[in-house]
Amino acid sequence: MDIAIQISNLDLFYGAFHALKNVNLKIERHKITALIGPSGCGKSTLLRALNRMNDLIQGCRTTGEVLLEGKDIYGPGVNVCELRNKVGMVFQRPNPFPLSIQDNVSFGLRVAGQKNSAILDEIVEKSLQNAWLWEHVKDKLETSALELPLDQQQRLCVARVLAVEPDVILMDEPCSALDPISTAKIEELMLELRRRYTIAIVTHNMQQASRISDYSAYMLLGEMIEFGITTQIFENPKDKRTEDYITGRYG
Ligand SMILES: Nc1ncnc2c1ncn2[C@@H]1O[C@H](COP(=O)(O)OP(=O)(O)O)[C@@H](O)[C@H]1O
Ligand SMILES: [Mg+2]
Repeated sequence: MDIAIQISNLDLFYGAFHALKNVNLKIERHKITALIGPSGCGKSTLLRALNRMNDLIQGCRTTGEVLLEGKDIYGPGVNVCELRNKVGMVFQRPNPFPLSIQDNVSFGLRVAGQKNSAILDEIVEKSLQNAWLWEHVKDKLETSALELPLDQQQRLCVARVLAVEPDVILMDEPCSALDPISTAKIEELMLELRRRYTIAIVTHNMQQASRISDYSAYMLLGEMIEFGITTQIFENPKDKRTEDYITGRYG
Protein backbone atom coordinates (compact mmCIF):
# COMPACT_ATOMS: atom_id res chain seq x y z
CA MET A 1 0.00 0.00 0.00
CA ASP A 2 1.46 3.34 -1.10
CA ILE A 3 0.36 5.61 1.73
CA ALA A 4 -0.34 9.32 1.27
CA ILE A 5 -1.60 10.01 4.79
CA GLN A 6 -1.16 7.90 7.89
CA ILE A 7 -3.31 8.77 10.90
CA SER A 8 -2.17 7.30 14.21
CA ASN A 9 -3.82 7.49 17.62
CA LEU A 10 -5.68 10.64 16.72
CA ASP A 11 -7.81 12.17 19.44
CA LEU A 12 -9.69 15.40 19.08
CA PHE A 13 -11.58 17.42 21.66
CA TYR A 14 -13.97 20.33 21.22
CA GLY A 15 -13.52 21.74 24.72
CA ALA A 16 -14.50 18.81 26.96
CA PHE A 17 -16.27 16.90 24.17
CA HIS A 18 -14.25 13.95 22.86
CA ALA A 19 -15.07 14.02 19.12
CA LEU A 20 -12.42 11.67 17.70
CA LYS A 21 -11.33 8.67 19.74
CA ASN A 22 -7.99 7.05 18.98
CA VAL A 23 -8.50 7.04 15.23
CA ASN A 24 -6.06 5.04 13.09
CA LEU A 25 -6.33 5.09 9.32
CA LYS A 26 -4.12 4.83 6.27
CA ILE A 27 -5.13 6.74 3.16
CA GLU A 28 -3.67 5.26 0.01
CA ARG A 29 -2.19 7.39 -2.71
CA HIS A 30 -4.21 7.83 -5.91
CA LYS A 31 -7.21 6.09 -4.43
CA ILE A 32 -10.57 7.35 -3.20
CA THR A 33 -11.25 6.74 0.48
CA ALA A 34 -14.82 7.31 1.67
CA LEU A 35 -15.64 8.25 5.26
CA ILE A 36 -19.11 7.02 6.10
CA GLY A 37 -21.26 6.87 9.21
CA PRO A 38 -24.29 8.49 10.82
CA SER A 39 -24.58 12.24 11.19
CA GLY A 40 -22.45 13.56 14.04
CA CYS A 41 -20.04 10.60 14.13
CA GLY A 42 -17.02 12.79 13.34
CA LYS A 43 -16.53 12.46 9.57
CA SER A 44 -16.13 16.18 8.91
CA THR A 45 -13.99 16.57 12.02
CA LEU A 46 -11.65 13.83 10.81
CA LEU A 47 -11.47 15.32 7.32
CA ARG A 48 -10.66 18.76 8.75
CA ALA A 49 -7.97 17.22 10.94
CA LEU A 50 -6.10 16.25 7.77
CA ASN A 51 -5.23 19.82 6.83
CA ARG A 52 -5.56 21.40 10.26
CA MET A 53 -8.76 23.23 9.46
CA ASN A 54 -9.84 22.49 13.03
CA ASP A 55 -7.11 24.85 14.22
CA LEU A 56 -9.53 27.63 13.33
CA ILE A 57 -12.06 26.39 15.89
CA GLN A 58 -11.68 27.87 19.34
CA GLY A 59 -11.19 25.30 22.10
CA CYS A 60 -10.32 22.50 19.70
CA ARG A 61 -7.40 20.30 20.75
CA THR A 62 -5.80 17.48 18.77
CA THR A 63 -3.34 14.79 19.89
CA GLY A 64 -1.76 11.97 17.96
CA GLU A 65 -0.11 11.93 14.58
CA VAL A 66 -1.08 12.67 11.00
CA LEU A 67 1.81 11.84 8.70
CA LEU A 68 1.85 13.40 5.25
CA GLU A 69 4.79 12.10 3.22
CA GLY A 70 6.13 10.76 6.49
CA LYS A 71 6.05 14.14 8.25
CA ASP A 72 3.67 14.93 11.13
CA ILE A 73 1.44 17.85 10.12
CA TYR A 74 0.96 18.62 13.83
CA GLY A 75 4.71 18.63 14.44
CA PRO A 76 6.87 21.71 14.93
CA GLY A 77 7.77 23.99 12.03
CA VAL A 78 4.81 23.10 9.81
CA ASN A 79 3.66 25.90 7.51
CA VAL A 80 -0.11 25.59 7.71
CA CYS A 81 -0.71 27.59 4.49
CA GLU A 82 1.55 25.27 2.53
CA LEU A 83 -0.15 22.31 4.19
CA ARG A 84 -3.57 23.54 3.07
CA ASN A 85 -2.30 23.90 -0.49
CA LYS A 86 -0.98 20.34 -0.44
CA VAL A 87 -4.15 19.06 1.20
CA GLY A 88 -6.98 21.07 -0.37
CA MET A 89 -10.62 20.99 0.57
CA VAL A 90 -13.97 21.17 -1.20
CA PHE A 91 -17.03 21.78 0.98
CA GLN A 92 -20.69 20.81 1.07
CA ARG A 93 -21.96 24.09 -0.31
CA PRO A 94 -19.92 25.52 -3.16
CA ASN A 95 -18.12 28.51 -1.65
CA PRO A 96 -16.64 30.60 -4.45
CA PHE A 97 -15.31 33.97 -3.36
CA PRO A 98 -17.30 37.01 -4.55
CA LEU A 99 -14.72 37.56 -7.28
CA SER A 100 -14.44 36.81 -10.98
CA ILE A 101 -14.07 33.22 -12.16
CA GLN A 102 -10.47 33.94 -13.05
CA ASP A 103 -9.64 35.54 -9.69
CA ASN A 104 -11.20 32.65 -7.81
CA VAL A 105 -8.94 30.12 -9.50
CA SER A 106 -5.78 32.24 -9.25
CA PHE A 107 -6.49 33.28 -5.65
CA GLY A 108 -4.09 30.92 -3.89
CA LEU A 109 -1.28 31.65 -6.32
CA ARG A 110 -1.69 35.40 -5.92
CA VAL A 111 -1.72 35.04 -2.13
CA ALA A 112 1.53 33.10 -2.48
CA GLY A 113 3.00 36.08 -4.36
CA GLN A 114 2.69 35.01 -8.00
CA LYS A 115 2.30 38.21 -10.12
CA ASN A 116 3.24 37.02 -13.59
CA SER A 117 -0.01 37.26 -15.53
CA ALA A 118 1.08 34.82 -18.25
CA ILE A 119 1.80 32.17 -15.61
CA LEU A 120 -1.46 32.92 -13.80
CA ASP A 121 -3.46 32.69 -17.05
CA GLU A 122 -1.87 29.39 -17.95
CA ILE A 123 -2.58 27.83 -14.55
CA VAL A 124 -6.13 29.18 -14.52
CA GLU A 125 -6.81 27.57 -17.91
CA LYS A 126 -5.22 24.28 -16.96
CA SER A 127 -7.06 24.10 -13.63
CA LEU A 128 -10.41 24.91 -15.24
CA GLN A 129 -9.77 22.28 -17.89
CA ASN A 130 -8.94 19.68 -15.30
CA ALA A 131 -12.13 20.54 -13.42
CA TRP A 132 -14.12 20.18 -16.66
CA LEU A 133 -15.20 23.79 -16.59
CA TRP A 134 -13.05 25.51 -19.20
CA GLU A 135 -15.45 25.04 -22.12
CA HIS A 136 -18.27 26.57 -20.10
CA VAL A 137 -16.41 29.63 -18.85
CA LYS A 138 -13.54 30.42 -21.21
CA ASP A 139 -15.43 33.35 -22.75
CA LYS A 140 -16.50 34.88 -19.45
CA LEU A 141 -13.54 34.58 -17.09
CA GLU A 142 -14.14 38.12 -15.84
CA THR A 143 -17.73 37.52 -14.73
CA SER A 144 -18.55 36.87 -11.10
CA ALA A 145 -18.23 33.27 -9.97
CA LEU A 146 -21.48 33.73 -8.06
CA GLU A 147 -23.38 33.91 -11.35
CA LEU A 148 -22.47 30.34 -12.28
CA PRO A 149 -24.98 27.52 -11.70
CA LEU A 150 -24.37 25.58 -8.51
CA ASP A 151 -22.71 22.56 -10.13
CA GLN A 152 -20.30 24.78 -12.02
CA GLN A 153 -19.57 26.68 -8.81
CA GLN A 154 -18.61 23.39 -7.20
CA ARG A 155 -16.31 22.50 -10.09
CA LEU A 156 -14.84 26.00 -9.81
CA CYS A 157 -14.03 25.22 -6.17
CA VAL A 158 -12.29 22.07 -7.42
CA ALA A 159 -10.35 24.18 -9.94
CA ARG A 160 -9.33 26.58 -7.16
CA VAL A 161 -7.90 23.65 -5.21
CA LEU A 162 -6.14 22.21 -8.28
CA ALA A 163 -4.46 25.55 -9.06
CA VAL A 164 -2.16 25.29 -6.05
CA GLU A 165 -1.03 21.78 -6.98
CA PRO A 166 -2.35 19.65 -4.15
CA ASP A 167 -1.39 16.05 -3.43
CA VAL A 168 -4.57 15.29 -1.55
CA ILE A 169 -8.12 16.57 -2.10
CA LEU A 170 -10.58 16.43 0.78
CA MET A 171 -14.26 16.58 -0.14
CA ASP A 172 -16.94 16.99 2.50
CA GLU A 173 -20.26 15.83 1.00
CA PRO A 174 -19.40 17.69 -2.22
CA CYS A 175 -22.62 16.66 -3.97
CA SER A 176 -25.13 17.23 -1.22
CA ALA A 177 -26.31 20.52 -2.75
CA LEU A 178 -26.43 19.11 -6.29
CA ASP A 179 -29.03 17.34 -8.41
CA PRO A 180 -28.42 13.76 -9.65
CA ILE A 181 -27.01 14.82 -13.04
CA SER A 182 -24.54 17.28 -11.49
CA THR A 183 -23.68 14.66 -8.88
CA ALA A 184 -22.86 12.13 -11.59
CA LYS A 185 -20.59 14.69 -13.23
CA ILE A 186 -18.68 15.34 -10.00
CA GLU A 187 -18.36 11.60 -9.38
CA GLU A 188 -16.97 11.10 -12.88
CA LEU A 189 -14.59 13.99 -12.31
CA MET A 190 -13.39 12.44 -9.06
CA LEU A 191 -12.61 9.17 -10.81
CA GLU A 192 -10.55 11.12 -13.34
CA LEU A 193 -8.77 13.16 -10.64
CA ARG A 194 -7.85 9.97 -8.80
CA ARG A 195 -5.25 9.30 -11.48
CA ARG A 196 -3.18 12.20 -10.18
CA TYR A 197 -4.47 12.96 -6.70
CA THR A 198 -5.35 11.18 -3.50
CA ILE A 199 -8.97 11.78 -2.52
CA ALA A 200 -10.79 11.48 0.79
CA ILE A 201 -14.53 12.06 0.62
CA VAL A 202 -17.21 12.29 3.28
CA THR A 203 -20.53 11.08 2.00
CA HIS A 204 -23.84 10.12 3.57
CA ASN A 205 -24.83 8.58 0.25
CA MET A 206 -24.08 4.86 0.44
CA GLN A 207 -24.58 4.39 -3.30
CA GLN A 208 -22.05 7.12 -3.92
CA ALA A 209 -19.52 5.52 -1.60
CA SER A 210 -19.92 2.15 -3.27
CA ARG A 211 -19.83 3.64 -6.79
CA ILE A 212 -16.68 5.69 -6.52
CA SER A 213 -14.55 4.73 -3.54
CA ASP A 214 -11.75 2.19 -3.37
CA TYR A 215 -11.74 2.09 0.42
CA SER A 216 -14.39 2.87 2.99
CA ALA A 217 -14.05 3.75 6.64
CA TYR A 218 -17.08 3.40 8.88
CA MET A 219 -17.20 5.72 11.88
CA LEU A 220 -19.52 5.75 14.86
CA LEU A 221 -19.49 8.16 17.83
CA GLY A 222 -15.98 9.37 17.07
CA GLU A 223 -14.51 5.90 16.64
CA MET A 224 -13.18 4.22 13.53
CA ILE A 225 -15.19 1.02 13.60
CA GLU A 226 -14.09 -0.64 10.39
CA PHE A 227 -11.89 0.14 7.45
CA GLY A 228 -11.44 -1.91 4.29
CA ILE A 229 -11.80 -2.25 0.57
CA THR A 230 -15.18 -0.80 -0.33
CA THR A 231 -16.62 -4.02 -1.78
CA GLN A 232 -15.69 -5.85 1.43
CA ILE A 233 -17.23 -3.17 3.66
CA PHE A 234 -20.46 -3.21 1.66
CA GLU A 235 -20.75 -6.90 0.87
CA ASN A 236 -19.07 -8.55 3.80
CA PRO A 237 -18.65 -6.21 6.76
CA LYS A 238 -16.80 -7.76 9.69
CA ASP A 239 -18.31 -5.63 12.42
CA LYS A 240 -21.98 -5.98 13.33
CA ARG A 241 -22.26 -2.19 13.71
CA THR A 242 -21.01 -1.65 10.14
CA GLU A 243 -23.47 -4.23 8.87
CA ASP A 244 -26.36 -2.56 10.68
CA TYR A 245 -25.50 0.76 9.13
CA ILE A 246 -24.90 -0.55 5.61
CA THR A 247 -28.15 -2.49 5.61
CA GLY A 248 -30.07 0.50 6.92
CA ARG A 249 -30.84 -0.98 10.29
CA TYR A 250 -29.13 1.87 12.05
CA GLY A 251 -31.51 4.02 14.15
N1 LIG B 1 -17.06 23.41 16.19
C1 LIG B 1 -17.56 22.48 17.01
N2 LIG B 1 -17.65 22.69 18.33
C2 LIG B 1 -18.15 21.76 19.17
N3 LIG B 1 -18.58 20.55 18.77
C3 LIG B 1 -18.52 20.27 17.46
C4 LIG B 1 -18.00 21.21 16.52
N4 LIG B 1 -18.07 20.64 15.28
C5 LIG B 1 -18.58 19.42 15.46
N5 LIG B 1 -18.85 19.18 16.75
C6 LIG B 1 -19.42 17.95 17.33
O1 LIG B 1 -18.52 16.89 17.03
C7 LIG B 1 -19.24 15.72 16.63
C8 LIG B 1 -18.81 15.31 15.23
O2 LIG B 1 -19.24 16.31 14.31
P1 LIG B 1 -18.95 16.23 12.76
O3 LIG B 1 -17.52 15.96 12.56
O4 LIG B 1 -19.51 17.45 12.15
O5 LIG B 1 -19.79 14.95 12.35
P2 LIG B 1 -20.27 14.42 10.91
O6 LIG B 1 -19.52 15.18 9.87
O7 LIG B 1 -19.99 12.97 10.92
O8 LIG B 1 -21.75 14.69 10.84
C9 LIG B 1 -20.71 16.06 16.74
O9 LIG B 1 -21.18 15.61 17.99
C10 LIG B 1 -20.73 17.58 16.66
O10 LIG B 1 -21.83 18.10 17.37
MG1 LIG C 1 -20.19 16.46 8.36
